[in-house]
Amino acid sequence: MSSKIPKIALIIAIIILIICFILLLVMPKMVSKPKEEEVVSKYSTKATDTLKELDIYTEINNKDYSKTIEVLLEDNNFKTKYLNDYFNIDYQDIDNFSKTINSLLDKDYNSQEINYIIKNFQEQIDILLTMKHINILEFKDITNFNIDNLSRYINYYNDNDYDLKSVVTYVNIGLDLDGYSKYETYTLEEAKDITILVNKYHKLPDNYEPDDLVSLEYNANYKLRKEAAEAFKELTEVAKLDNVIFYPFSPYRSFATQNVLYNRYKQMDGEKVADTYSARPGFSEHQLGLAVDVRSSTLNDNLTEEDYNWMLNNSYKYGFIIRYPKGKQFITQYIEEPWHIRYLGVELATKVHDSGLTYDEYYDLYMEER
Ligand code: DAL
Ligand code: ZN
Repeated sequence: MSSKIPKIALIIAIIILIICFILLLVMPKMVSKPKEEEVVSKYSTKATDTLKELDIYTEINNKDYSKTIEVLLEDNNFKTKYLNDYFNIDYQDIDNFSKTINSLLDKDYNSQEINYIIKNFQEQIDILLTMKHINILEFKDITNFNIDNLSRYINYYNDNDYDLKSVVTYVNIGLDLDGYSKYETYTLEEAKDITILVNKYHKLPDNYEPDDLVSLEYNANYKLRKEAAEAFKELTEVAKLDNVIFYPFSPYRSFATQNVLYNRYKQMDGEKVADTYSARPGFSEHQLGLAVDVRSSTLNDNLTEEDYNWMLNNSYKYGFIIRYPKGKQFITQYIEEPWHIRYLGVELATKVHDSGLTYDEYYDLYMEER
């Protein structure tokens, strides 16, 4: 019995020795194995191979995985000089993603801009690529920005010296196109709206006639829509209290009357000049029955400067704006017409007056549904 115990102990000792020996053999290998091969690559085999060829595998693989980088590598479009930008560009599943971002980077767009462009203007990228770099992020803050007009904005921006905000408004108005070359025609129902914008880009139906025209006290043949006629009466009466006296000389004009007038002017001065002071038939606010030309004397087609200043500072309180102000011809497309006032109602006329904008601008910024 006593001789058995040492024998078992000997066997256990031999087994322990064998285990130790095996461990001694295996451990050093586990410890000294080259690290690079052991770290699992975050990238596809093809991408990994290219990274290794470029000698930037470890550097890139140690950072967070970037799908953008992987796609560029797989497409053979990876450019080392844009490495930092690539990391900041979010991958988007679009055709030719890698080519597109390289082209945008070549155009000096930064990663923030590229993310914005790819998310918001995918369909306009080709147009952007034909243009010089544009400060695209500014568009984000422009409330009346309309993506459908992007290429027109860019062309207009490149051809003029305006800031982007003005460019958006001017293009929305239509100023990048010649007046009358492209216009919207209102329905008979829409034409009744007191606030409707009529200009060289917005036409009334030929047969539109307001159904609530009333005569002005001054002359029974002179008419305006009821609401405008009442406001006009108030305006003249209040003006009189300030010793400002003016007379209406051209209120409502039918399509037919405007046609006769415009053609007469055209014969007299030629189309180009006539277009600077007379609307073509269908494009006149006078057809709305909401505009009236006034003058200081029955003998003269104008307001004195004094009366005009009174009008500038007061007419809005009774619902009228000066529709074609000084220095705004490039927007209104008409020379200054101190005598032409347009009824919009007190609330809107006040807002337009306070904005300092032409009604064309105001309408695009605040009235147009988007
Ligand atoms: N004179 C203005 C523009 C008109 O003809 O309506
Ligand atoms: Zn007029």
